[in-house]
Amino acid sequence: MSQTSSAESHPIYPPPADFSARARVPSMDDYQRRYDASIADPEAFWAAEAGELLWREPWTRVLDWQMPFARWFDGGKINVCENCVDRHANGPLRDKAAIIWEGEPGDQRTLTYGQLHEEVCRFANVLERNDLTAGDRVIIYMPMVPEAAVAMLACARIGAVHSVVFGGFSSESIFDRLEDSGAVAVITADGGWRRGSVVPLKPAVDEAVAKYGKIKRVIVLRRCGNEVAMNPATDVWWHEAAAAAPATHSPAAFDSEHPLFILYTSGSTGKPKGILHTSGGYLTGTYATCKYVFDMRPEDVYWCTADVGWITGHSYIVYGPLANGATQLMYEGAPNHPDFGRFWSMIERYRVTIFYTAPTAIRAFIKAGNHFPAGHDLSSLRLLGSVGEPINPEAWTWYHQHIGGGRCPIVDTWWQTETGAILISPMPGATPCIPGTATRPFFGIDAAILDDAGNECAPNQDGRLVIRKPWPSMTRTIYNDPERFKKTYWSDFPGLYTAGDGARRDEHGNFWIIGRLDDVLNVSGHRLGTAEIESALVSHPAVAEAAAVGRPDDLKGQAVAVFVTLKAGFTESEELRRELRNHVGHVIGAIAKPDDIHFAPGLPKTRSGKIMRRILKELVCTGQVTGNITTLEDYSVIATLQQKIAH
Ligand code: WTA
Repeated sequence: MSQTSSAESHPIYPPPADFSARARVPSMDDYQRRYDASIADPEAFWAAEAGELLWREPWTRVLDWQMPFARWFDGGKINVCENCVDRHANGPLRDKAAIIWEGEPGDQRTLTYGQLHEEVCRFANVLERNDLTAGDRVIIYMPMVPEAAVAMLACARIGAVHSVVFGGFSSESIFDRLEDSGAVAVITADGGWRRGSVVPLKPAVDEAVAKYGKIKRVIVLRRCGNEVAMNPATDVWWHEAAAAAPATHSPAAFDSEHPLFILYTSGSTGKPKGILHTSGGYLTGTYATCKYVFDMRPEDVYWCTADVGWITGHSYIVYGPLANGATQLMYEGAPNHPDFGRFWSMIERYRVTIFYTAPTAIRAFIKAGNHFPAGHDLSSLRLLGSVGEPINPEAWTWYHQHIGGGRCPIVDTWWQTETGAILISPMPGATPCIPGTATRPFFGIDAAILDDAGNECAPNQDGRLVIRKPWPSMTRTIYNDPERFKKTYWSDFPGLYTAGDGARRDEHGNFWIIGRLDDVLNVSGHRLGTAEIESALVSHPAVAEAAAVGRPDDLKGQAVAVFVTLKAGFTESEELRRELRNHVGHVIGAIAKPDDIHFAPGLPKTRSGKIMRRILKELVCTGQVTGNITTLEDYSVIATLQQKIAH
């Protein structure tokens, strides 16, 4: 792997003195001292953090590590929901706003911790009255409304395992998740507002539930008032069931390793992986990272723009901030509705102090024009965050200047669905920020970069990012597939977690994340497996074979380019192209629709018949093929494809 230039030429932004003065980690010396101590004895560090949570029974052992299976805080009993809600509702934070919500049409609601407690209790009672109990799996398919958080928390409260499916996924994706998780209930809504119209949700659930056939109950929130079909055998309205349920509920205590949720994410096969997270360790990780990385203060108004359907929404909208007793803003709709000033208007109106978003959104804002943020008072902001993909230095600098007014540190947070919580990020009061690097590992995180032989890379040498010690919020397994779990994350280097990301570390110890090393694309910060897109394409009657690759895209980071070989009797046309795009949208969801569809009479293959995606990738990125093609079976396909792409 190649040597690359040093970090010396990059501008460095030290933390502002007034920020450091009040920060939990006020200097690099302090960070280093605490980091070194946490690596010398990670269990002591994590136990101290876990000790700030409410445990019904203390743990007897901090870590039981039977590689690759971890058990954290064994013997301890905890209720995650009680930590996020009751602990604050029963104390001085009772009347503090927990969630300030704005719907896309402009409707507003605030739930204090006391009110959130009441909603969660009612809904936990609803779940129990519908025969749901600890260990049952529940699919949540909802818009970004406070009830999405209430549904997750109520599941956690009764020990049911939620699996949130992003509202942009198709009914087939819901069906796959119902089947894999063996879910018995679905919580959904009539629809949600997006770019000025109602996006219906219930029909996709209906289709999936009918095909699956094993659902006891579908609970439906009325959000938009659009018409929905209610099946009397299974469906109940949220508002009716909640009104009839008591407003108090006493939470049971669960083992620290009790499953909390399954979240499906793309991997390198056609079947998404059910990433399983458990209770005590996950909450410890999200609580501690929120506290240090966002340096949350009681008076902060925190806003994470992710959707609860992704891990960022789980860890940094629901569990982390609420465990910290934070006040947060939640928004239902699109960033550009009614125009690209929406976010900035909300920051101004709610006096947001911490803002956490994705590079793809930042790039869209840059394109929309500086006059949008310039028209708003953003002086309440004190800290910015970025997540989901590498943030390019141009986007970083724009974010710093136009949103942060040059005064806010930016925490570029690297982590994954599997890691549960942030693993690499600046500490905002300590770490000098350099655009493009997520900088240093969090306390207790032993991150390294290895070459293919497993040796640690020299500074600035590209390699594979690994984590060498277990941490509490790590995924425990792939649901129903421990073998895949071992193979995917723990087999490259014995005993080490491989993230699947390429990275390098500069001579100052900063981690620069380069991107995925596997067949996973990162489109607008969302993970998509090339194999998933390919299997969606070949399920169309016209398609004989398909290959998907990523190409760089100014806005999305990566765009999806696919090569499709048609079956005999089908002809290339614009109409078929449109149909194939929509077909992928129908099978997976709109986020997976290919950007470019190239009809290919043949695909480049090895003599053993494997599609050489590397060649296709080079073709879509550069229009050329320069790499080694000696294993190619038929050289003429390349010339044909080159011509096709040129047109
Ligand atoms: C990428 C999102 C560079 C990375 C929390 C990782 C990043 C994948 C960053 C996980 C970052 C996430 N810099 N790359 N700050 N954050 N990634 O599971 O490739 O949706 O493996 O979790 O996103 O995506 P996931």
